[in-house]
Amino acid sequence: PRVVILAGGLSHERDVSLRSGRRVAEALRSVGVDVSIHDVDADLVPALTDLRPDLVWPLLHGTSGEDGSVRDVVQLLGLPLLGTGPRESRVAWSKPIAKTVVARAGLRTPDFVTLPQSLFRELGASRVLGALVSRLGLPLVVKPSRGGSALGVNLVTSADELPRAMVDCFAYSDTALIERAVIGTELAVSVIDTGSGPAALPAVEIVTDGPYDYDARYNPGRTEYFAPARLSSDLAAAVARVAVTAHEALGLTRISRTDLIVTASGDIEFLEVNVAPGMTETSLLPQAAEAAGHNLGDLYRSLVRASLA
Ligand code: DAL
Ligand code: MG
Repeated sequence: PRVVILAGGLSHERDVSLRSGRRVAEALRSVGVDVSIHDVDADLVPALTDLRPDLVWPLLHGTSGEDGSVRDVVQLLGLPLLGTGPRESRVAWSKPIAKTVVARAGLRTPDFVTLPQSLFRELGASRVLGALVSRLGLPLVVKPSRGGSALGVNLVTSADELPRAMVDCFAYSDTALIERAVIGTELAVSVIDTGSGPAALPAVEIVTDGPYDYDARYNPGRTEYFAPARLSSDLAAAVARVAVTAHEALGLTRISRTDLIVTASGDIEFLEVNVAPGMTETSLLPQAAEAAGHNLGDLYRSLVRASLA
């Protein structure tokens, strides 16, 4: 089959996406799959019309890739897509909506409120901040309600840090998600479905000195990863169930990664899910796949084959 990987684009995560695209393309070529990479721009429709690939694999991170819009275009052109469809991507991409959906499916997720920038302006910072702190307490995490790679995400431990966190957040999204900060072990659990139903890969544990921010994510050596995570077998099974539950509740297809925190008392708190998880050399899903003994080329080819069927 001829596969086209969509990467790049114009989101804040353009560079990450190009790296993900290159890594997946290399892995697929190593097992003999015919694959090319298209850097998504205004030429997308003529390029896809011209190439007529057997399968399109969107490895676009951030807006347009994960919000479903480029997936919509691929479907409109009648081309098969590897991964989640446009509608479900749109839902998963919104952190508050995804949290609401998985909470309804019985998962725990930190308490939160959403705040549009317009309302923040209208009510004034001091009133809003007071209300937030009295509703959710401290510490808080402020994040763009739509976004990735921890851009615009800040931990707020005292009220006077809030205004700056809001400004940083609104640089990336017009709505802020303000969440009660949960202290515990940060984990990422990837889910893969190569045709026999969604199955979790081993959890990856993330250990950083400071925040797990953009630099800590993409500079090799900045973060220590444990793959598999250092969990009891009961807890490892429980986090796997949480990731599969989130994948199914949100109607995701083939591939996803759920990010969560396990507290000292063993509660598993859902943070978010990614329909286009990072596939770079420092990313979590490839580490999990290798920890499970998969050859990346073989695994990605299985996903390709399952998506053609
Ligand atoms: N948004 C980045 C690519 C990730 O979740 O891995
Ligand atoms: Mg994400």
